[in-house]
Amino acid sequence: MNTIRQTAVEMLKNVLEDKNFFSEVKTEQSQLSAQDSAFANMLILTTFRHLVFIKKVLKKFVKKKLPASAINGQYALFLGTCEILYLNTPDYAVINSYVEVTKHMADKYVAGFVNAVLRNICKQKEELKKEETNEFFPPEFFHILNQDYGKKTMQKIQTAAMVEPKLDITVKNNAKHWAETLGGQLLPSDTIRLENNGKITALQGYANGDWWVQDFAAALAVKALSDIKDKKVLDMCAAPGGKTAQLINKGAKVTALDISAARLKKLQENLQRLHFNAEVVCADALEYIKEYKEEGYDAVLLDAPCSATGTIRRHPELVHIKRLKDVEKQAELQKEILAQTPKILKEGGILLYCTCSISKLEGEKQIAAFLEANPTFKIVPITSQELCGTDALNEIITDEGFIRTLPQHLANYGGTDSFFVARLKKGSLNVLQKKSRSNRKYQHHYR
Ligand SMILES: C[S@@+](CC[C@H](N)C(=O)[O-])C[C@H]1O[C@@H](n2cnc3c(N)ncnc32)[C@H](O)[C@@H]1O
Repeated sequence: MNTIRQTAVEMLKNVLEDKNFFSEVKTEQSQLSAQDSAFANMLILTTFRHLVFIKKVLKKFVKKKLPASAINGQYALFLGTCEILYLNTPDYAVINSYVEVTKHMADKYVAGFVNAVLRNICKQKEELKKEETNEFFPPEFFHILNQDYGKKTMQKIQTAAMVEPKLDITVKNNAKHWAETLGGQLLPSDTIRLENNGKITALQGYANGDWWVQDFAAALAVKALSDIKDKKVLDMCAAPGGKTAQLINKGAKVTALDISAARLKKLQENLQRLHFNAEVVCADALEYIKEYKEEGYDAVLLDAPCSATGTIRRHPELVHIKRLKDVEKQAELQKEILAQTPKILKEGGILLYCTCSISKLEGEKQIAAFLEANPTFKIVPITSQELCGTDALNEIITDEGFIRTLPQHLANYGGTDSFFVARLKKGSLNVLQKKSRSNRKYQHHYR
């Protein structure tokens, strides 16, 4: 029995049917050797990266929908087609493996069908490869993002989204030294980029707490908070603590809050390894704000719960298990938390809002609505100079002064996750604003 491919079918099914992140599913399977496991993981991620095209190919050869009892045959076809078109497995090996797997996981009739389809795909392999469309997003996602970015940018996003990302780390200090020691690339903002192979925990400096894993884009948010030494900072959705660690490293007095006890446990383990301390609070942000009576914070970092669709290079399955309604649901929660946040911020304090979503609903549009409702807040534009000391990161700064990274940015280094950051300052209402607010209330009342 082909255990690697059977496990791959099971994992694919688990992600697509139970809507689990692949990273959660893969840690559960332990019956494979490290080498086989690495192959199964690569096979599944490659399948997800090309699933839109794989489905198109299969439509040509499979005219009828498979019955529910034959669903494993369909997953075998996804993986088999991926191996034929994108991996170097010999055709006969692909066909034999998936026929065997389907016999075991469905029945001999479904196996016969899988055999016929894969044989046909092998025969037309070269023509099919030429038809590759580089489509990453299924129609629903494509539609939302096309409205945000337009066709030309979408093409770039889709191509870059298919590239397997490397491993980024943030070091406490002396980035140049660590880049040399670990043989990594030093990115403009001092993130170090490593080849994504081998065991992370075995790398020099990990056990000692000299660095932590954090994508280049995710690390930018806290870099936009200058002068926070000894300042009171609330990290409102903190776990697993990548940004908490950065805040502490900059000398802030940090309260790390999160609703998830399990994720906070991970945060505490991470801080312990890094020899960092923070006040840790397990609570719903909305409840915390309601109960909060102390002096306001100097800065609040709201790394809001989001659809995580900015991490599609690492989690290509996301676009196949999330729907538009998931993005909208997260945007609603972000709006609620954002609306309450001014209450716990000092006048003159900074609200740093960020999400790892590629959808503008959770970024630019969310902030536009917040500013409309909160006229005392002003954008404090972020610049490339403050992030890295040069203009090297101009491409990720929007006209409004937000950070908006996309997968095709930082192309010379292999791309990046998509991330959004807005830096806002709380002021007080001036006379004109007070007047216009009361007029607005008046208009609403009598309309
Ligand atoms: C994007 S993650 C935060 C990542 C983290 N800032 C980091 O850099 O490692 C969002 C977090 O929001 C938390 N969360 C979701 N809803 C929340 C709520 N109502 N109140 C507080 N935290 C919440 C989740 O548990 C999750 O850990």
